[in-house]
Amino acid sequence: MPLVPLSAVRYLAPWLRPLRALAARRWLREAEIDGLLALLNPTWRLNRVFARVQGRRWVADDMLALTLQPNGNWRGARPGQHVRLYLEVAGVRLSRSYSLTALHADGSLEIAIKRQPGGRLSNRLLDWVAVGQVLEIGQPFGELCWVEQAPGVLLLAAGSGLTPLLGLLRGALAQGFGAPVTLLHYVRRHGQRAFVHELQALQAQHANLRVRWALSGDPAQAGELSGRFAAEHLHELGDVERRSVFACGPAGFVEQVQGWWHGAPRDGQLQVETFSPPAFNQAEPVRPVRLRFARAQREVQGDSRRSLLEQAEAEGLRPAHGCRQGICASCTCLLLSGAVRDLRSGALFSEPNQPIRLCVSAPQGDVAVDV
Ligand code: FES
Repeated sequence: MPLVPLSAVRYLAPWLRPLRALAARRWLREAEIDGLLALLNPTWRLNRVFARVQGRRWVADDMLALTLQPNGNWRGARPGQHVRLYLEVAGVRLSRSYSLTALHADGSLEIAIKRQPGGRLSNRLLDWVAVGQVLEIGQPFGELCWVEQAPGVLLLAAGSGLTPLLGLLRGALAQGFGAPVTLLHYVRRHGQRAFVHELQALQAQHANLRVRWALSGDPAQAGELSGRFAAEHLHELGDVERRSVFACGPAGFVEQVQGWWHGAPRDGQLQVETFSPPAFNQAEPVRPVRLRFARAQREVQGDSRRSLLEQAEAEGLRPAHGCRQGICASCTCLLLSGAVRDLRSGALFSEPNQPIRLCVSAPQGDVAVDV
């Protein structure tokens, strides 16, 4: 039983401001203060966010939902955002981003973790984490944003791409969004349909919501669609042409949705997020380039295929980063000279001193960056 309850830890967070100021000036050591605070409650820290696991439940054969109550350093989140979770496994500090599937009125949040082949952190969490344990998380990030004025919304998810869209959907319905919403979730097997009971309950509660599943492995049953993403599926859903669209899933799935979207003039907006790092366009030849990392005073031979983050790390540099997918902005730095291509959109950037995201920027010639 902690000496100070978590509710008090959350309440007292603003009162630690003087200690934070002293630690920032290096008059006190943050690690020592954290050690003392952790004795009073295992979630308590000066600046870092730790959260107590309040609940865990399986929401699909291969997906576990965790309810976390963070300490008072948590700044709050918007539906559709993600958090980074940190865990030490066999002496190695691992981290991975998970989407917020729900934000509760008591300040707790829900994330969902999918079992991944070879996924060291996710699989460890699935097998090990229990109610009462304490995990470190980061502050929220992510730019998906519900379109309040949309005449309708179409949510397209593949696999664990459901998770941020579920967070968005729950938030919008709770705020009274009344226009038609259709959620289409692509999975291989029936057992991978996640949050089925929750989605069916939402559907029963909100007449404007329709949920459908598409199966690419198991045979589709009544009411389900068959196969991977295809424009015919959308024709079958009917009346989705004028809607704003959100798509989330692996890069290949998101590219297919983008291809369909750009294939005809449409109203509304398309917002996408992918869980895999952007892939290099194999059709383009790889060229050698010179890379200058100005702050590190290093100039090296690089190539036009890999992201600047990968190439900096290959040279032993450790630029700040988070998601590695162009979402969290924590790898943003200044492009000092040269041109880079955004690996997600293909857009070229060459304006000196403009901010770029290292994890999704590949050099298109000799480049200098403020790293
Ligand atoms: S690491 Fe998150 S945007 Fe680059």
